[in-house]
Amino acid sequence: MDDNLIIRKAEVKDAEYIALLGQITFDETFGHHFRDRNDLINYFKSTFSVEKIRSSIAKENNVFWLALVNDLPIGYAKLKKFSPLEQLLPAPAAQLQKIYVLKDYIGKQVGPALQNALFDEVKALKISNLWLSVLKTNERAIRFYQKNNFKSVGEHLFTVGKETFDFYIFLKKFE
Ligand SMILES: CC(C)(COP(=O)(O)OP(=O)(O)OC[C@H]1O[C@@H](n2cnc3c(N)ncnc32)[C@H](O)[C@@H]1OP(=O)(O)O)[C@@H](O)C(=O)NCCC(=O)NCCS
Repeated sequence: MDDNLIIRKAEVKDAEYIALLGQITFDETFGHHFRDRNDLINYFKSTFSVEKIRSSIAKENNVFWLALVNDLPIGYAKLKKFSPLEQLLPAPAAQLQKIYVLKDYIGKQVGPALQNALFDEVKALKISNLWLSVLKTNERAIRFYQKNNFKSVGEHLFTVGKETFDFYIFLKKFE
């Protein structure tokens, strides 16, 4: 990409960027799964309000990154540093909770750049286990994670409004 890509950690003052990116990228990725658009809108209100994102960025346990192209925010990622997998893995683990890029920027190395920033943080914190949830039908994301040595270790369901989604749990080990 000729444009100027910057990946930087997000601060509380970036909450509006993240909330807007969160809503748009979730809609672009999963919006077609919702038969009732109100379910999606209610989910945005509870999960991606500016207030909710502000308090999430402020938590010591979370790290957010923003991807900017020519100073415009086009993607974000979130790491939850302490997020045990309980029954599946009786060891400390962090969670790659979000990695989303606006659709016009997918396939342009923004996703890998965000993921590398997050991996660097995991290594610096000496965390050995990083897990995530990925929708079983999200083939592009599954391929993206598999390229980086995430392996399926389980599955779970998640319900939003009237829709129930089927996820794999992927785990990556760090030395
Ligand atoms: C996941 C995401 C951050 C990855 O970033 P990206 O820019 O797509 O990263 P890459 O281009 O390196 O990886 C995508 C891979 O999937 C492949 N791919 C692209 N479109 C695909 C499709 N429709 N089906 C299957 N694979 C696809 C690409 O070819 C690439 O693999 P390759 O490098 O072997 O060619 C980005 O795709 C994204 O934001 N997706 C929407 C949000 C999302 O699904 N987030 C994850 C939720 S768990």
